[in-house]
Amino acid sequence: MTESTPAPGPISDELSLRHPVASDHARLQGALADWWGGLGGEAGALQRKLLVPRLFLQHFADTSFLVERPDGTLHAFLIGFLSQTDPRTAYIHFVGVCPDGKRGGVGSALYERFFTLAREAGRSRVRCITSPNNRDSIAYHTRMGFRLEPGDRTDDDGVPVHTDYDGPGLDRVSFVREL
Ligand SMILES: CC(C)(COP(=O)(O)OP(=O)(O)OC[C@H]1O[C@@H](n2cnc3c(N)ncnc32)[C@H](O)[C@@H]1OP(=O)(O)O)[C@@H](O)C(=O)NCCC(=O)NCCS
Repeated sequence: MTESTPAPGPISDELSLRHPVASDHARLQGALADWWGGLGGEAGALQRKLLVPRLFLQHFADTSFLVERPDGTLHAFLIGFLSQTDPRTAYIHFVGVCPDGKRGGVGSALYERFFTLAREAGRSRVRCITSPNNRDSIAYHTRMGFRLEPGDRTDDDGVPVHTDYDGPGLDRVSFVREL
């Protein structure tokens, strides 16, 4: 792992794209606290921060992306990887777009980059999960062509939920998309 992975190019005239490095960890932690609109309160922010430890920037950098503005501030990020266990599968672990940048096409641009990368690596499907209370994420992933996998129950809106997926009280919604 080096601090100078090759830049994958611009995402627009204003926004540049590169792979993350370990020293990006602190500002990613800030984004994980601030960009989710207070979802889950302080406990939710802590959970998100703990879900993106430094190891992703050290060992999964080549399949992850950061988007920066011309002044170098963080605009968006995607943390993803190629499954080591299932050679058909790529996995998007976390994605975030800054509050001012939402609905501007950056989330979908990052996903398309990741889909291309995954296809080039011979992967035929992408998986990810989200929390049942993250309605924006469920709407976004549905719009991006993901299918919601059947769970053990459906919530009041008909969303399939996997109860205790990541431990007691940590329910999740599971998505899959063919490439
Ligand atoms: C979810 C998120 C990544 C989407 O990124 P984005 O840049 O705002 O999304 P885009 O502008 O690329 O939108 C892509 C499509 O999804 C739709 N979409 C995006 N957010 C949506 C929402 N909240 N509700 C309904 N549709 C939505 C867009 O309308 C667009 O569809 P279109 O092509 O028909 O216009 C971003 O809103 C975000 O960072 N949210 C907070 C963090 C989060 O919840 N992350 C996901 C879970 S880890």
